[in-house]
Amino acid sequence: MKEKPVLQVRGYAKRFVLHEQGKVIPSSYDVNLDVYPGNLTALIGPTGSGKSTVLKGIYRTYLPSDGQLLFTRENGETLDLAQVDEHQVLELRRNEVGFVTQFLHFLPRQPSEDIVAQPLVQRGYRQEQAHKLARDMLAAMNLPERLWGISPATFSGGEKQRVNLARGLIAKPRLLLLDEPTASLDSKTTDRVVSLVESLKHEGVAMLAVFHQPELVTRMADRVVELETPTLTATPLEEIA
Ligand SMILES: Nc1ncnc2c1ncn2[C@@H]1O[C@H](COP(=O)(O)OP(=O)(O)OP(=O)(O)O)[C@@H](O)[C@H]1O
Ligand SMILES: [Mg+2]
Repeated sequence: MKEKPVLQVRGYAKRFVLHEQGKVIPSSYDVNLDVYPGNLTALIGPTGSGKSTVLKGIYRTYLPSDGQLLFTRENGETLDLAQVDEHQVLELRRNEVGFVTQFLHFLPRQPSEDIVAQPLVQRGYRQEQAHKLARDMLAAMNLPERLWGISPATFSGGEKQRVNLARGLIAKPRLLLLDEPTASLDSKTTDRVVSLVESLKHEGVAMLAVFHQPELVTRMADRVVELETPTLTATPLEEIA
């Protein structure tokens, strides 16, 4: 029997309305994909084809313009992420949906170890336990120990990305979204990420990931979905209304 997908995206579209310029920008259009437990679906396509916009719609950074984002919860219930309210969005982010974005967001002066431990603390882990797991994850990501107590504000791109990944991978959410997770990593750290992704697959985590390098798609993906740059050009607002 085929396992039920954790996520089914049907006819997803996102348009941005630029009121001050009177234009509508199509970003993603008619995206369809499935993500299964313990599998990785890769999202590929040229710059500007809307890959990040798909992930941001699923995480509800953006409200989708069209389509269904059907998410099956741990308890078997299916929710349309395009319809759930803000309160539910926050609850899902805390417990079931994780996102490693292209850029790390953090509070000023927050030490790297705290940033990585935070998702576990929010889920109710004891501080001590959360910090132990955070240190293990930072070590697994090859971040030098002298940097663990420091804010990533002054880190190099690759160092920031290691903190970002450690934070995203630590909580083992049911659905993990990854936006170019290895973009600024050296080959040794990339290999570590690949093996961590493999171990997450064994634990049943469903992943949807954006990659630019075809080599990584070959190494990690179970399915590939290709987006094309929208052929529609920016439309004057009055023609849409
Ligand atoms: N907040 C926004 N407001 C207006 N337009 C946006 C917004 N976010 C994205 N877009 C537009 O949507 C299109 C798709 O952007 P997106 O970031 O999803 O592309 P991408 O496929 O992830 O590209 P890359 O490979 O460069 O990361 C782009 O043309 C972009 O300018
Ligand atoms: Mg992108």
